[in-house]
Amino acid sequence: MENLKLDIEALKDGPYAVKGVVTITTSDGTTKEYTNPYLCRCGASKNKPFCDGSHRKVGFTE
Ligand code: FES
Repeated sequence: MENLKLDIEALKDGPYAVKGVVTITTSDGTTKEYTNPYLCRCGASKNKPFCDGSHRKVGFTE
């Protein structure tokens, strides 16, 4: 496997902002490449592992 560099930033009161291309396998077994995805870290997204903006509705702070 090639050693690649990724940057991941935890946005204030929001998701992880991933800078780069990542391969994600979701719970239904689907594997797909994503460029610069925003990943949920509040647990409220209805589209996990991706952020769908629900962190604002639930008042996530971190
Ligand atoms: S961080 Fe945005 S929905 Fe969870």
